[in-house]
Amino acid sequence: MIIRSKVILRAKKLADAQDDYTWQTDPELARLDAAPLLTMSFSRYLSDYVSELHYPALTRRRFAIDTLDGKHIGNCTYYSTNETKGEAELGIMIGDRNWWDKGYGADAVNTLLSHIFHRTNLTRIYLKTLDSNARAQKCFQKCGFTPYGHLVKDGFSFVLMEIDRKRWDERQANSL
Ligand SMILES: CC(C)(COP(=O)(O)OP(=O)(O)OC[C@H]1O[C@@H](n2cnc3c(N)ncnc32)[C@H](O)[C@@H]1OP(=O)(O)O)[C@@H](O)C(=O)NCCC(=O)NCCS
Repeated sequence: MIIRSKVILRAKKLADAQDDYTWQTDPELARLDAAPLLTMSFSRYLSDYVSELHYPALTRRRFAIDTLDGKHIGNCTYYSTNETKGEAELGIMIGDRNWWDKGYGADAVNTLLSHIFHRTNLTRIYLKTLDSNARAQKCFQKCGFTPYGHLVKDGFSFVLMEIDRKRWDERQANSL
């Protein structure tokens, strides 16, 4: 469990399944995330969920995002971890709209970056977000990510962003 000023990142648990199902079957969230809308039943989802909790993928680490008083508001992850290249991709979703635009996303991203750069040997974290998703881009910029290119994939247009350990360390030093 990692506690920051606004959020707690913690391991995923079975009790998160209902929230996660609600968010993954939400058309607006799927659109903002350029993700396919989940259509499977909750019982099927739950059985996959249990498997993932018991046998997590080696190249991915998932965290729930809770408020300081324990409300589950979203999830964040790093995945496609490549130890040889020293890099991984970051993903985040604040599923509960009541918590958008209040700094919870930036605090969760900063917390995850701090964990990655202090607890792993990874040196570069990258992500993609839709060109049209100004809120997400602003959130990532606040955390030190910089754009490094564009990608068109499956009919979606993405901005690519990255941060490396050196930039992270410099920003930490400057904030002291
Ligand atoms: C993207 C997301 C993680 C950001 O988290 P958040 O808690 O809302 O973000 P923050 O409050 O830390 O930062 C958002 C910033 O964008 C700003 N913003 C919001 N809408 C904006 C817009 N249309 N144009 C420009 N800036 C905008 C906010 O004012 C805020 O900036 P500020 O702190 O200077 O006021 C969260 O909103 C989310 O999960 N949204 C739904 C799913 C989604 O977009 N997924 C894609 C993720 S790649």
